[in-house]
Amino acid sequence: MLSYSMEGGNKVYGEVQISSAKNSALTVMCAAILNKEVFIKNCPNIGDVTVMSEILSSIGATVKRTSDGLYIDASNVYTTDLPKSKTSKIRASFFLVGPLLSRFGTVSVSKPGGCKIGERPVDIHLEGFKALGAKVSETESRFIITAPILHGAKIHLRYPSVGATENLILASACADGVTLLFNSAKEPEVKDLCDFLNLCGAKITGGGTSIIRIDGVKKLNSGITFKPLPDRIEAGTFLLLCYALGGKVELSGVKCENIYYLVKKILDNTCNNDGFYVKIYNDNIYIYSDGNPKGLGRFVTMPYPMFPTDLHPLVSAVGAAASGETSVSETVFDSRFSYLQGLKKMGADFTLHGETVTFRGRALHGETVTAPDLRGGAALVVAGLKAEGKTVVKCAENVMRGYEDFSLKLRKIGAKIKTVKES
Ligand code: UD1
Repeated sequence: MLSYSMEGGNKVYGEVQISSAKNSALTVMCAAILNKEVFIKNCPNIGDVTVMSEILSSIGATVKRTSDGLYIDASNVYTTDLPKSKTSKIRASFFLVGPLLSRFGTVSVSKPGGCKIGERPVDIHLEGFKALGAKVSETESRFIITAPILHGAKIHLRYPSVGATENLILASACADGVTLLFNSAKEPEVKDLCDFLNLCGAKITGGGTSIIRIDGVKKLNSGITFKPLPDRIEAGTFLLLCYALGGKVELSGVKCENIYYLVKKILDNTCNNDGFYVKIYNDNIYIYSDGNPKGLGRFVTMPYPMFPTDLHPLVSAVGAAASGETSVSETVFDSRFSYLQGLKKMGADFTLHGETVTFRGRALHGETVTAPDLRGGAALVVAGLKAEGKTVVKCAENVMRGYEDFSLKLRKIGAKIKTVKES
């Protein structure tokens, strides 16, 4: 087990190169089942990608990390029985169902794992597969999904689930006929998946909008190189960190329009604050902060293009230490507040009513806390770097699931943080 050990109170200066998006890389890895051979350039070296690589290897694919990406050859996949020991670790493992069903006509998979942030059912995925002609049977721990042939269909998603949208795109890219997805997720990572599949010869329009049309093709082309889009959640994390800690940081390689909502919201709330500015120039975001953050007002998590749920704990960490009030209402997941235990230990003053947490910011002090999940853990690191004294965030592996070289990137901009083995 690993921990992050840090001393709070330092400002940050320098450049942070934003990595490729976790949620894009993971779905392109799933898509390799369909097009068989892909090189994912700059594929982030993170825990979730490692687990997905292990799942792919366990069913017969060849997965190799190179200095500049990840190579996958899925030509020799020989089973569609997905190993529970691995799939229980990441939610994205369930996104293999669509492509496996399309290629082999049958999949056996257990209920997916991932961050413990709520119920996270898969009914929308399953309803969609059924609409495409699949039969789903469920045992206590596994789903058996079969479909000798998938037929295009009109599918209305009851909620714009990111994963269900992606799974159904993957299932129908090579289906017989046309599929129309209504109320699709509009997240940029969905569009990235469509872009990748189109590069392989798929016929998909409307990715990134609420109506996606997929004209099934017979097969997809192999040997494609693809670079996933930049990680907007990592960019948002460093933006919020710099706002809280103070200093001058350049985030490079950002797709700025994808974090427009966060930037605009912060700017709206800080318009009378001379101690802070954000400038956007091409693919870079320049942030200056004097390190005296003011409360950020009210945030409500919603599907894209609104405020992303994955930044909820990060805004909370800043709000806990900023003067004035910050509140976050969670509407996407039903249990995303585990990180509050750590913030409370560090001295945060907040009230939690239903799914809304309200902070009256104050100085935090260092403590030993535990990363409850990926974003909650990153939030505790941000709080620890702002707090006075020493903080240890245990279970750092939870953070490493989604942030590439987190402590290294932080050290490069002057944060006093190191990764240590838990004794
Ligand atoms: C993806 C992202 C995750 C992000 C989330 C929302 C990946 C690997 N993960 O997760 O980082 O936080 O989008 O932006 O891409 N739901 C159902 N039934 C379903 C599917 C979802 O009720 O069949 C509910 C979920 O419980 C949740 C909401 O829909 O309350 C949103 O979930 P969804 O958009 O599916 O998130 P994920 O794809 O799991």
